[in-house]
Amino acid sequence: MKMTANREALAIQGGTPVRATLLPYGRQSVDEADIAAVADVLRSDWLTTGPKVGEFEEVFAAAVGAKFAVSFSSGTAALHGAAYAAGLGPGDEAVTTPMTFCATANCVLYQGAVPVFADVCKDTLNLDPERVRAALSSRTKAILPVDYSGHAADLDALLGIAEERGLTVIEDASHALGGEYRGQRVGAIAHLTTFSLHPVKHLTTGEGGVVTTNRADYAETLRRFRNHGISSDARQRQNAGQWQYEMVLLGMNYRLPDINCALGLSQMKRLPQNLARRRVVAAVYNARLAGLPGLILPTTREEVNPAWHLYPVRVDATKLTAGRGEVFQALRAENIGVNVHYIPVHLHPFYRDRFGYRGGEYPVAEAAYEQLLSLPMFHAMTDEDVEDVVRAVGKVLGWYAR
Ligand SMILES: Cc1ncc(COP(=O)(O)O)c(C=O)c1O
Repeated sequence: MKMTANREALAIQGGTPVRATLLPYGRQSVDEADIAAVADVLRSDWLTTGPKVGEFEEVFAAAVGAKFAVSFSSGTAALHGAAYAAGLGPGDEAVTTPMTFCATANCVLYQGAVPVFADVCKDTLNLDPERVRAALSSRTKAILPVDYSGHAADLDALLGIAEERGLTVIEDASHALGGEYRGQRVGAIAHLTTFSLHPVKHLTTGEGGVVTTNRADYAETLRRFRNHGISSDARQRQNAGQWQYEMVLLGMNYRLPDINCALGLSQMKRLPQNLARRRVVAAVYNARLAGLPGLILPTTREEVNPAWHLYPVRVDATKLTAGRGEVFQALRAENIGVNVHYIPVHLHPFYRDRFGYRGGEYPVAEAAYEQLLSLPMFHAMTDEDVEDVVRAVGKVLGWYAR
């Protein structure tokens, strides 16, 4: 143990915390215009699948530069829709990353197909194209990359593999609304791109999701799939003065109501400023946390402009007298709401039981998981919030430095 005379005692040891109240790792921001937009819908004729759905989809498609956007009741439902549209079914496989939220892999299972994991690149923690290649089989139908933390996956390489083998790329861009890859916005690069509009994301509809695509046939299938497989919606029938409808495929009720779309439309106006703020927070972290003992900062590849949903650092325990777990607890005690993204999907009990994973299969993802810590990152963070994080991380790592 080092001499501690000139150091500030950590809050976990009874010292004064850097902040008096907990700073969460992510948080929505809702303003009066958002509230008024939702209230207007509540006073209107259509609470669900009214005019706001189409308006929101149009604005969303334009924001990401895609021809079509189809809204869903959650990012998970959007992924399920994309898996359906890609034609995944029993006997098929989709290659995906273990470094994600479980919903990414689960959507493949919803369709009766099998998610096959491939390990990630050490720098970005995104799918490693060489590992994807090694995981392909005659049953592979899709590749399902995730833009981890908001940093686009290696899309050129993955689309190249897909083209060679006739596969569909479903990009889970739940973290990457507004992110760019080779100067192009995420949303029209892969065959199908999915987004989540959960409150910790760049804009929120409460719960919600979107699939974007440039293909009209995918968009039509997605619209039907989210509405019980029915080929028209109630408003279209009312407007046409018709009662008849046809169910043409086995769909779900995954509709995003007008109430939520009105919130999304209102929030969309602040997407550019939300993105800009997250980029400023990331730049401050990059500058102020560089060189701290035992801290590895996230890498940004040259061709990528990340959307910074998360700011994931790695704790190198070989340089410290404490491991990631203790650093996590110490930062929590300082009232910095750190989190961990993600427990690799194959290590969850369901996946271990169903597929026999034991750990050790995806060493890069598993080693990263042991080190990962997400620092607070949301657009409403004030300069003081950012300063608190910088101070707390410096205080804790300074204490534990070897
Ligand atoms: C990578 C990823 N995929 C899918 C989802 C699921 O989205 P939702 O919570 O909107 O269903 C999330 C949610 O956080 C996510 O982070």
